[in-house]
Amino acid sequence: MPSLADIERILRLSPVMPVVVIDEPAIAPDLARALLAGGLRTIEVTLRTAAALGAIEAIAREVPGIAVGAGTVLSVEDLRAAANAGATFAISPGATPALLEAGVHAPIPYLPAVATASELMQGLAHGYHCFKFFPAGAAGGTALLKSFAGPFPQARFCPTGGITQETVGTYLALPNVLCAGGSWLSPPEALAARDWGRIEALAAQAARRT
Ligand code: 3PG
Repeated sequence: MPSLADIERILRLSPVMPVVVIDEPAIAPDLARALLAGGLRTIEVTLRTAAALGAIEAIAREVPGIAVGAGTVLSVEDLRAAANAGATFAISPGATPALLEAGVHAPIPYLPAVATASELMQGLAHGYHCFKFFPAGAAGGTALLKSFAGPFPQARFCPTGGITQETVGTYLALPNVLCAGGSWLSPPEALAARDWGRIEALAAQAARRT
């Protein structure tokens, strides 16, 4: 069983966590290889499509150099399915009491999300100190993260939602941010065109933002 500290090690692997939506598991390893070639070592595959669990399995099997996580984990069943598919970690866009409880004992590290001080206090009370901050842009952006630093100096964040290559640097400059997530690294049209060169270039640009 992982310790709650293991998620911090994963979040520190790369400054940017690509958040991807995959419709065909067959393209997942090529996408992961392109991101890895660009210098990124983590990927969050959202459980928003029927292909997601198969994509996680394929990446875990064929691209061992990248840590593949399951995103959009909405239930304890999702968390279990992610672990069974071979995900290295799991991320939610929020949290429920059941997920906070299950995440502590899960076979893979789990990252709950917060958008308010009260949600953060719930997570800290369960022993978590790392959180996704979602939806980062809409919920207050860097100003909110700076405000969290006063009362919650032990909390660390992966902001996600509304972040772009142009704005990611402002998040990464904050001492309580370990990495930032976003979907800008895998534009739907690049995936449709199998344009791995473009995705590698976007990843390389993001990887340099350390
Ligand atoms: C997520 O699930 O983390 C978000 O959908 C990613 O947000 P973005 O598309 O605004 O980057």
